[in-house]
This record gives sequence, structure tokens and C-alpha cells, in this order.
Amino acid sequence: MNVVVITGASSGMGRVFAEKLDRAFLGIDQFWLIARREEPLNRLSEKLAHDSRVFGMDVTSRESMDKLEKALRQSRATVRILINCAGYGVMGPFSQADRERTLGMIRVNCEALTDLTYRMLPFMKKGSRIIQLASSAAFLPQPDFAVYAASKAYVHSFSRALGEELRQKGIYVTSVCPGPVDTPFFQTAERDGSTLALKKWTMVPPERVVEQALRDSRNRRPVSVCSLPIRAFRGLAKAVPHSLLLRGTTVLKHLEDAVAANNRKG
Ligand SMILES: NC(=O)c1ccc[n+]([C@@H]2O[C@H](COP(=O)([O-])OP(=O)(O)OC[C@H]3O[C@@H](n4cnc5c(N)ncnc54)[C@H](OP(=O)(O)O)[C@@H]3O)[C@@H](O)[C@H]2O)c1
Repeated sequence: MNVVVITGASSGMGRVFAEKLDRAFLGIDQFWLIARREEPLNRLSEKLAHDSRVFGMDVTSRESMDKLEKALRQSRATVRILINCAGYGVMGPFSQADRERTLGMIRVNCEALTDLTYRMLPFMKKGSRIIQLASSAAFLPQPDFAVYAASKAYVHSFSRALGEELRQKGIYVTSVCPGPVDTPFFQTAERDGSTLALKKWTMVPPERVVEQALRDSRNRRPVSVCSLPIRAFRGLAKAVPHSLLLRGTTVLKHLEDAVAANNRKG
């Protein structure tokens, strides 16, 4: 049985990946949909033309991961595509951030993604693909989004190296690096703080990111960057010393805060 495994399928890009792949002809027998909230997963499952299985679980739970792995073994499944979308962000100054939310972010964005990738590999074969949701935040350290950006730099670095290791086996890894995407992500990320407002000008719909990511994965590209401003940002982060860019973002943030304060007064 050929399966697609998607984490973070209850919302945003994870859900869109399931919807887009459902319409593609891939020889897939079942979609395995993973997230903590079962209700949106069940709704998605009902909508899909393909058969699907819902796993209402926290990806940081070892016990749930063990059960998932056991289910794969019992169904003698081959994982054709693994999409690691589960993740969240915490904005604001590091020293003022909620410690548990911050550490939890590392556990979900980095540890669980690594654990799931490790556990899925024995169920993959030539032609299988892995799609990892990194972020353009992987290209440059981000003040007021420091741990999130560092977690995505981890995902990006890990995915690129893993892709090189697995290429000989015919398994291809794509690190997806979007800028801001219009999903519920910001409701969680902006709970205790904000980062540069300017970034939101480059916001794109999740469908665009997902379509590009699926195309890039099919074409065995190691990195997927969907919009022109984010490609330019990647180029800038490669060409200009990071110390200069970091100072620039701090100046810009001060300017934005001053304008916002002025507007509030007026
Ligand atoms: N939106 C953006 O601007 C943006 C930009 C670049 C990269 N990304 C990355 O893209 C990925 C998808 O984000 P999105 O924009 O689609 O955000 P989203 O709509 O908030 O989706 C996040 C998903 O992660 C799941 N999740 C979070 N913690 C989990 C846990 N402990 N166990 C299981 N599932 C968990 C959530 O489901 P439950 O709450 O039901 O568990 C949800 O389905 C994330 O890794 C994010 O960092 C987002």
C-alpha cells in the first residue's frame, strides 16, 4: 500500500498539500493525516477523494510516534511522500518570550521533524520524496523571531544534507522556504510580539507555495522558493554580510515602531 504522510494537516499549508495531492494522479492508496486537532482532520478526510486515515496526535509525543510507526509496519505501507508541515512560531524579544512555548517550538519544528523523518525512512523506496517546511527565515538570523529562525535554519540545513545522502537511493528531499504565507500561523506567532511589518507585504496564499513545492519536489529540486521578493531576499542574504543586514533590520524595526506610536497618538 502506497501512502502519503502529512503532519500539520489540520490547517494552513498541510491541509492544502493534502487537497492538491488528492487531485493529482500518483498511484497513492491512502493519505495519513496528522495533527493534534482531530475535528479539522476528519473534515478534510471526508472531503478527500482518496481513502485516508486520521491520526490525532502531538508529534512531540514519543508514545504517539511509536503507534504511528507500528501502524505503518502493520499495514506494510510504503511511504511515497512524507510532508513535514507541523510547526509554529513565537515572535517578540527572546528575553520576554514564554519559555515553554519557545522550547516547545524547538521540539516541534526540529526534534519531531527529525524523529518522524528517521522513522519513515525504512518505509521509503526509490522514488519516494520528502518535503520539509523550512522558511525564508532560514536564510538570515531574525531579531524578535530568533529561535523560530534558528529552528528553520536547522530544518533547511538538515534537509539539504539529508537530500545529498539519499540521492543515491533515489529518495529526494525538498526544503520549502516561503516568506510570509496567509495561514493561521500568525495568530499563534503574534500572540506575544511582532516582527517586521514590512515582511507582510510579501504575503502569498498557501496554494501558491504548495503548488511550487510540489512542482519542485517532482523535479527533484533540493530547495523551493516561490516568490520573486523571497528569491531576492535569499540572494541578498548570500551576498551581503549578515552583520550589516541584521543592523538594517533593527533600524527598520525602530522606524516601524516609531511610526506606529505616532499613528496611535494621532
Ligand atoms: N505561514 C507562514 O508565514 C509560514 C512561512 C514559512 C514557513 N512556515 C512553516 O510552514 C509550516 C506550516 O505552517 P502554516 O503556515 O500552515 O501554519 P498553521 O496553519 O498554523 O499550521 C500549523 C500546523 O501544525 C500543526 N501542529 C502544531 N503543533 C503541533 C504538534 N505539537 N503536533 C502535531 N501537529 C502540530 C497544527 O495542527 P494542530 O494545532 O491541530 O496540532 C497545524 O496543522 C510550519 O512549519 C511553519 O513554520 C509558515
